[in-house]
Amino acid sequence: MARAIRFYETGGPEVLKLENVEVGEPGPGEARVRHSYIAVNFIDIYFRTGRYPLELPNGLGSDAVGVVEAVGPGVEDIRPGDRVGYLLGPQGAYSEVRVMPADVLIPLPDGISDSTAATLVMKGMTVQYLFRQVYPLHGGETILYHAAAGGVGVLACQWARALGVEMIGTVSTDEKAEIARKNGCAHVIVTSREDIAARVREITGGKGVPVVYDSVGKDTLMASLDSLRPRGTLVSNGTSSGPVVVDSTLLAVKGSIWMTRPAMVHYATPRAHMLDMAKELFDMVLAGKIVSAPSQTYALEDAAEAHVALEGRKTTGATVIVP
Ligand SMILES: NC(=O)c1ccc[n+]([C@@H]2O[C@H](COP(=O)([O-])OP(=O)(O)OC[C@H]3O[C@@H](n4cnc5c(N)ncnc54)[C@H](OP(=O)(O)O)[C@@H]3O)[C@@H](O)[C@H]2O)c1
Repeated sequence: MARAIRFYETGGPEVLKLENVEVGEPGPGEARVRHSYIAVNFIDIYFRTGRYPLELPNGLGSDAVGVVEAVGPGVEDIRPGDRVGYLLGPQGAYSEVRVMPADVLIPLPDGISDSTAATLVMKGMTVQYLFRQVYPLHGGETILYHAAAGGVGVLACQWARALGVEMIGTVSTDEKAEIARKNGCAHVIVTSREDIAARVREITGGKGVPVVYDSVGKDTLMASLDSLRPRGTLVSNGTSSGPVVVDSTLLAVKGSIWMTRPAMVHYATPRAHMLDMAKELFDMVLAGKIVSAPSQTYALEDAAEAHVALEGRKTTGATVIVP
C-alpha cells in the first residue's frame, strides 16, 4: 500500500483526498517509481477543477522525480536503481510510489539533484519547447513573457538571458519583479500599476515585439495582442486567469497575428525527441546557465494547501511536494 492523493469530483482544493492505494508489480512496458519529489504545476489545477477532462475517481499530477524500483517485461532502457523524472503519462504523480508506463521516464544526470530536477522536468521542458520549437529564439530578439516570476517563468528568464534575448516580463507585485530581475529578465512590468502594452511600446521604441508567450490567458489577451508588431506571433501557452476565446477577425485587426495554442504532448514525442529536449535542458543546468531549486515545499497531505497558494498567486518559482 502507498499514500496517494485521489479525487472523486472536480472542484476546489478540498476535493483532494489522501488515501492508501494498492501499487502492485509493473506489467509489460511498465516501471514502479518511488518518488522523492513531486512537482506541482498549474495544469494540475485545470484537471482538479474540470477544465481539462479526466475520468473520475483518479489520481492527480503528471510530474515527479524518483528512483525506479522494478520494471516489467519488455522494458530495456530503464533499470531498477535508475534516477528518473517524468512529465507525460497518466495522472497520479501525487503519490509515494506508483506503477506507470516506462517509456515516459527520463533518466536524470548525476550532476543534477532530485530537488533541482523536480523544478525542471515539466517547467524546463516547457521553456525548451516554447523557446526552441514553438517560436524559436536565436538571440537579439525582444520578447514579452507573462508570469515571469512563476515556476516556468523564472526558468524562462534564465534561458532568455543565456540566449541573448531581451525579455520583457510581467508580474503582479514588486517582490515578484525583483525575482524576475534576479533571474535575468531585462525589463519587468508590474501589472498592478502599469499598462502592459504601453510599456512594451515604450521599451521597443513603438515597434512592438515579434512574439508574446502568454500563459495567463483571459486577463492578458488584449494586452498581448496590443504588444505585438504586425505579423507577430501570440503563443497562448496557458490559461491561469481563464480560457481564451478569440474571434479570428481580431487577429486580422491587430496586425495579421499568428496565434498558436501548443500542448507539450505534441512537442515532446516521440521518446527519442523527448530525451533530446531533456538533454538540452540538463546541459543548460550542468553548464550553470540555469540554476534552480524549489521555492515552496509541502507534505503530501498538504497538497490542497499547495493548490490554494498556486491559484492564489502566492507562490514564486517552483512548488514541490515531498511525499
Ligand atoms: N502548454 C504547455 O505545455 C504548458 C506546460 C507547462 C505550463 N503551462 C502553463 O504555464 C503557466 C505557468 O505554469 P506554472 O505551473 O509555472 O504556474 P506559475 O506561473 O507559477 O503560476 C501562475 C502565475 O500566473 C499569474 N497569474 C496571472 N493571473 C492569474 C490568475 N487570475 N490566477 C492565477 N495566476 C495568475 C501569477 O503570477 P503574477 O501574480 O505575477 O501575475 C501566477 O503566479 C500556466 O498557465 C500553465 O498552465 C503550459
